[in-house]
Amino acid sequence: MSLLSIKDLDKRFGGLHAVRNVSLEVSPGEIVGILGPNGAGKTTLYNLITGFIPPDGGDIRFDGHSLRGLAPHKIVGLGMARTFQLCRPFVGMSVLENVLVGSLGPRVPAGDLEQRARNLLADVGLQDKEQVPAEQLSYGDQRRLEIARALATEPLLLLLDEPFAGLGSGEIAELSTLIRRLHADKGLTILLIEHKLREFMKLVSRVVAIDFGAVIASGTPEQIVAHPAVIEAYIGKQEEEHAA
Ligand SMILES: Nc1ncnc2c1ncn2[C@@H]1O[C@H](COP(=O)(O)OP(=O)(O)O)[C@@H](O)[C@H]1O
Ligand SMILES: [Mg+2]
Repeated sequence: MSLLSIKDLDKRFGGLHAVRNVSLEVSPGEIVGILGPNGAGKTTLYNLITGFIPPDGGDIRFDGHSLRGLAPHKIVGLGMARTFQLCRPFVGMSVLENVLVGSLGPRVPAGDLEQRARNLLADVGLQDKEQVPAEQLSYGDQRRLEIARALATEPLLLLLDEPFAGLGSGEIAELSTLIRRLHADKGLTILLIEHKLREFMKLVSRVVAIDFGAVIASGTPEQIVAHPAVIEAYIGKQEEEHAA
């Protein structure tokens, strides 16, 4: 059975058709990648899935529940957590407090929340920074904090939106290792939007490629990089961007 099942999802912003009839399934335990050029509708797709904006049409089911009309915090309560393309730590709060905020949901087991938050910070490698104000962290550490805060809600599914954006190659390799470990150790199901093709293709077991809001291909990473529509839509454009 699918953990996440999206059928004919549609969203327009005025005259802009940002998400067009998108259908996709994610099974428990998968790492699925969403690939597409800038403006393809990837973040909008996340905003729809997580209840930040309402769809114009289509259905989303998660762990047996319809998400129709549910507010974002209700969806978090069902076991879905996300990180943002631009990090959004709670400023004026310490690293530890940021993770504690994530611990307020209904899925969190009773017990010592502070110890649990410390364990999560250790999981992401921030154990020495728990008292640091969140906004003073490096960008790479802010990414880790966002992941710890998402994990604090005890998710079944974690949605990552361009987690490697703005990171250097060393930090990308470390974050990749962390994502792989979370998947292996916690059995987390992961949906990953990413532009850094090399790391992305090594992490994911399956890729859904979108362009102009519509699914243009899906398959294994090997099938996707060889797919003519993907080469046309994404890899060609990326080469142009690099050449420019
Ligand atoms: N709230 C919004 N209002 C109007 N247009 C939007 C809004 N959010 C996104 N868009 C537009 O929808 C398109 C897809 O955006 P986005 O989902 O952010 O793309 P991606 O994440 O793939 O780069 C873009 O043209 C963007 O400008
Ligand atoms: Mg985006």
